[in-house]
Formats: sequence, structure tokens, C-alpha cells
Amino acid sequence: MSDTVAKLTIGDKTFEFPVLSGSVGPDVIDIRSLYAKTGLFTYDPGFTSTAATDSAITYIDGDKGELMYRGYPIEQLADKSHYLEVCYLLLYGELPDKAKLADFENRVTRHTMVHEQMHFFYRGFRRDAHPMAVVCGVVGAMAAFYHDSIDITDPQQREIASIRMIAKIPTIVAMAYKYSVGQPFVYPRNDLDYASNFLHMCFSVPAEPYVVNPTIARAMDLIFTLHADHEQNASTSTVRLAGSSDANPFACIAAGVACLWGPAHGGANEAALNMLKEIGTPDKIPEFIARVKDKSSGVRLMGFGHRVYKNYDPRAKVMQQTARSVLDLMGVENNPLLQVAQELERIALTDEYFVSRKLYPNVDFYSGIILEAIGFPTSMFTAIFALSRTVGWIAQWKEMIGDPQKKIGRPRQLYNGAPTRDYEPIERR
Ligand code: CMC
Repeated sequence: MSDTVAKLTIGDKTFEFPVLSGSVGPDVIDIRSLYAKTGLFTYDPGFTSTAATDSAITYIDGDKGELMYRGYPIEQLADKSHYLEVCYLLLYGELPDKAKLADFENRVTRHTMVHEQMHFFYRGFRRDAHPMAVVCGVVGAMAAFYHDSIDITDPQQREIASIRMIAKIPTIVAMAYKYSVGQPFVYPRNDLDYASNFLHMCFSVPAEPYVVNPTIARAMDLIFTLHADHEQNASTSTVRLAGSSDANPFACIAAGVACLWGPAHGGANEAALNMLKEIGTPDKIPEFIARVKDKSSGVRLMGFGHRVYKNYDPRAKVMQQTARSVLDLMGVENNPLLQVAQELERIALTDEYFVSRKLYPNVDFYSGIILEAIGFPTSMFTAIFALSRTVGWIAQWKEMIGDPQKKIGRPRQLYNGAPTRDYEPIERR
């Protein structure tokens, strides 16, 4: 707690509230006693000024364009670490030594298969279902397959559920893809690293061998790493809110998947690529930009802007370099989509409309281009985001369940509906 006190004057009364300090970042006014003291609530749609929890996992400074997992800058982790090590860091708070990492990798790897009965569960979906609809349903159904890890009061069961989620989500997402293209499910290979195994499950077929390209595997691992957590965003807050009622972990993660699907959140990478395709060629950009600036059109530049980053998204910088190496490898440097992307980026960084609103390209802008080059259909993009973010959701859920101050989430409202009125019989209405 800081020594500063926040004073709130309402009419002729002044109330004092403590100010709390974190390790870095803005202080917060502790208003937990506000209603009891004043009879008033705060009004903050979209939670733009509200810290709903304290957390020691991820920190973002949106003005500086900084992102840290457990204090480590994302650029260092992207450069020097890999996804499973980052998962360990997010879950347990520290980087592992060799023995701890080997043990963690072994535990995750030994859980990559899903219950065989789940294969039949997939067959209930239409083949043309969106992969996010399938992933949401299958993750929610995990509570029906793994009863022995849904008692959230048992730390051992929480741990097993966490490992199961992280281990099985690539299998679940890859199966959603295979089902959508009418190919047989491919079982995981435990001799491959996490990213290579996912590529194997997506692109391997029984008819011929599939060799994972190390550049593609590295790009995949980076996409996972950069999306692993992002503090209290909409889907993470959804997971926390669902978990605050003591719902089982698989139900909570399914809620996160559902929230992530929206185009303003995880669906943005799919929307960004669809937008690039709609624009088609660089000469069509001015007309599109004019529509974006016309507020009545409702058109937004997808993959640009961020609620928190009012500077370059640090993940976008890493992704930009990776996009270049993947496109070089795939021999698509003259890809019109990339040309449109580069020109849009140039405009957004120089045009007064975007500069004054601090609308920079975000991570989804580049990850969409990379995933397209790897060969994923756009409908898979958000499912891959969900795969990557699962560890963040789990880490945040575990942190909340282990917090002795945990309370069920229950926002209040400013009611502006009809005041009390009497029921009118239908013949008098
Ligand atoms: N294109 C054009 N104008 C925009 C955009 C955009 N992408 N984003 C914001 N603006 C304008 C908006 O019209 C408003 O203008 P004005 O002040 O004249 O009314 C101003 O910028 C502020 O917009 P806002 O809606 O108050 O900003 P926000 O912080 O609520 O929105 C956002 C954040 C991410 C929802 C929004 O920027 C957006 O819709 N972006 C496109 C979708 C996208 O790429 N989302 C992915 C976010 S990153 C992945 C993740 O973390 O989930």
C-alpha cells in the first residue's frame, strides 16, 4: 500500500480510499469500501479504468509498447526461449533449470493424446463447422472425459487439469482442422517438440511421410510464445469470471475460447487476412482507407489498434521479422497480400488519422500473414490463437483459485430501464 490517500468529495462529504502500489505500473485506488461508505458505485463500461484483480503473471506498458511475462521482456523470450519453457515460466513464476524443464516437457508430452472416445464426439459436428465452434465444444466436453481432474479444491487435480489442457489443446485444434478438410485424424508424436508436433498433426497424412521444416516450426513456436498471455484481456477476464464461481477448469477454458472468437479480439487475425484479400492489390488501398475513415461505413482496419497498446505492439515487431523469413522460405515474397500488408502498414504509420489515434499494426496483422504462408486456412487462425493462449488462461485461472481473497465476480450496473410500474391486463394495453 502507498502512503497516498485518494479523497472523493460528494456534496459536502469527503471520503478517503487507500491507494495500492504494484511492483511496476500505475497505482490503483482501492474502492472496495465505496458502496458501503457512499452508497454509490463506479461506472466503467469496458473496464477501461478498472483493475479487477492483482496478478504477478504478465505486465503491459501500453504507452511504451512493453510486454513482460513474469518480468522477462517478450523480445528476450522470443529470441532466447521456446514455448514450453515459457509455459513453465507463466505457470510456476520462474524459469526452470534443466531437470525441471525436462520433467515438465515429459509431463506435457505424456498427455498429448485425447481419450479415444473423443474421436466420435467430433463426428457429431458438420464438416463445414468453424474450427472455433468445434474447439469450444470439445474443450467444454473435456470435463465429461476427465472427471478425475475437475475438483478445483484439490491442488493436485488443478495441476493435472492444467497439464492436460496444455498437452491436449494442440491435438484438439489439429483434429478440428483434419475434420474440416475430411482427412483422418493424426495421432501426436511424442518425439517431436510442441510446435513440430502440432504441424505434424495438421499436415501429415497416412499416404506419405511429412518432414517438419525447422523455419516453419520456429515460426509456429514464436506465434505460440507471443500469444501465450496478455494480462487481463477479454478472454482471460472471461476465464477468471467463469472460474470465480468455482466452475471446472475445462468449462472455464471453453468460455475463454468462446470470447476469443470475436473479431475485436482473437478473431482479428482472421478478419485481417480477409480484409487483405478483400482489398486484393495495393492500388485499391486508398479507396479502402477512405471507407475506414468514414465513420458511417463501420469499416475498421483489422489488425490495427489495441485497447492497451498506444505504441507499437512489441509482439508485432517480432512477428514482422518472422513473417519476412517465412515468406522468403515459401518463395512468396511477391505475394500481393504481403504487398497490400506492407503498404497498409506504411500508411497507418504516416497518415494523420492513424497517427493521431495511435493505431499501430498489432500482432494479429502479421501472424495472419505467417499462418496463411504456412498453409492454414483463415478459419484456423483464431483456433491457433486459442491453442497459444490456453497456458495464459490456465496460469491466470490457477492464480485466481489459489488467491485467498478470491470472490465470485459480480459487476454492478447503472439501471436506466423503467422504474416500478404496475402490470396491465392484456385487454387494457
Ligand atoms: N481502424 C480504424 N479506426 C480505428 C481502429 C481501426 N482498427 N481502431 C480504433 N479506431 C478509431 C476509432 O474509430 C476511434 O476513433 P474516434 O476517436 O474518432 O471515434 C479511435 O480510434 C479509438 O477507438 P476505440 O474503439 O475507442 O479504441 P478501443 O481501444 O476501444 O479499441 C480495438 C481497440 C482493438 C477493439 C480496436 O482498435 C479495433 O477494433 N481494432 C481492429 C480489430 C483488431 O485488430 N483487434 C485485435 C486486437 S489485438 C489482439 C488481442 O489482443 O486480442
